[in-house]
Amino acid sequence: MVAPKKKNREISIGDLKQGMVITAYTSFTSRYRPMDKVTSDFIRHNFRNTRAIINRNGIKQDIPIQYVSPGDDLLRIHSFPPELKKLITVNKPFIKELQKRGMIGFQIKVGMEIADESRRDLKELIKLVEQTSNKPRKSPSIIQEKKQEKIEIVNTLIRKVRESHEVRNKTAASIENTMDQIRKGKINISEIQQFAKQIIQSASEDAMTALTGLRQSDQIYAHCVDVGAIFQATYFKILERKGTRSAFQNQYDAILGALLHDLGKAKIPKSIIDSTEHFDKNSRATQILRSHPVFGAEMLARMNMPNSIIDMTHYHHVKQDTAMLSSYPAGVDFKDVLFETRLLSIVDIYQALVGKRNYKKSWSPPSTMRYLNALAGVEYDLKVWEQFLQVMGIYPKGSLVELNDDSLGFVMSVPNPGKDLESPLVAVIRNSQGEDMAHHDIIDLSVEKDIKIVRDIDSQDVFGDHALDVFTSISVS
Ligand SMILES: [Fe+2]
Ligand SMILES: [Fe+2]
Repeated sequence: MVAPKKKNREISIGDLKQGMVITAYTSFTSRYRPMDKVTSDFIRHNFRNTRAIINRNGIKQDIPIQYVSPGDDLLRIHSFPPELKKLITVNKPFIKELQKRGMIGFQIKVGMEIADESRRDLKELIKLVEQTSNKPRKSPSIIQEKKQEKIEIVNTLIRKVRESHEVRNKTAASIENTMDQIRKGKINISEIQQFAKQIIQSASEDAMTALTGLRQSDQIYAHCVDVGAIFQATYFKILERKGTRSAFQNQYDAILGALLHDLGKAKIPKSIIDSTEHFDKNSRATQILRSHPVFGAEMLARMNMPNSIIDMTHYHHVKQDTAMLSSYPAGVDFKDVLFETRLLSIVDIYQALVGKRNYKKSWSPPSTMRYLNALAGVEYDLKVWEQFLQVMGIYPKGSLVELNDDSLGFVMSVPNPGKDLESPLVAVIRNSQGEDMAHHDIIDLSVEKDIKIVRDIDSQDVFGDHALDVFTSISVS
């Protein structure tokens, strides 16, 4: 009688050879029996959309991997989807990684010859695996604490974005109202002053910075609020790093100056301000628009505003290379432009590109950062730019990114200055199969080294007007 042909066979890690194809992971070191929180999170994240056989409270169960929990004994991982090809195709670095992770038994597709010589080393390899898995690791309580910290970062940002959204809209409405009043000859900025105080007291500039990329902005009013928030969010962090004094008397003056930077637009005819046309650089309309810094500075001087605030309004369109056509007003020496104003000019263009305009599509925050990076040193002060970049990150908070496992996530926290800016904290909202997730995973790319950002996406291209709703519905625990 002929024995039925076996399709798969079980082997140990020492018998794995380059080119073999794994059909299941069948044996693990003691760290998986039972798993702690970190290990079960690792399994759930890296083996998404597979199934696991576990032993829970003495009962053997075959469950989708996302239901694996701390305390379970892991017995088998199987049913690999096509997108996890890299976890079933054997090569030398991968064998090392498996050893490191304490994964020591596999089922493979037959047809692959296993060289006998590998059996010789089997004992030593197993010893190595055991040693690796017994190596001192960070205590679970420290790891748990760090995870808790990250959950807290995400939840705080989401809550603050929800809260700050209203303040942003009200401040934008107040700027619009103030500008309308100025057009009627009533110059009174007390309403904006009130909102500057309210932003300091109850809103989060960090959250408002994230809002910039998640919500469409109008050309003037929400633009002013976003610029105010981003300026505030970056300016004080930069000062702290530089260890230098502020040109402003207090925090309130700093945000007020940024909110008021385009006040002079109140003196520009509405037909030009509201136009959907993108004016030619040499057109009459452009010439008129370019007088807004001077108009604004004159108004603020009449109100006896501090020089630092007037400087920001007056010179926020002055480029480092003042000979550039896009630099105005003319006749200004860049050396005389305050550090604060140099920073504001970067924030101003960042917001203008990320915010939606009548005549152009919005840009994603990371594409904007890359674009500005190329202009630094010519249009903007390189040193100021570098400080801005360290604080904002290449992927500012609220950026939508695609990871190398095809999943999508929002950036929730930017690496600390000096750390790898390519590795922020990300909340995954759509899995690698394109399904929206009810519960969201947090991945710290500075820890999960094999997960990388492959591209950034404009959140409005994917979620349209609902980008903010999707962001604020993120739930992690
Ligand atoms: Fe401006
Ligand atoms: Fe502006």
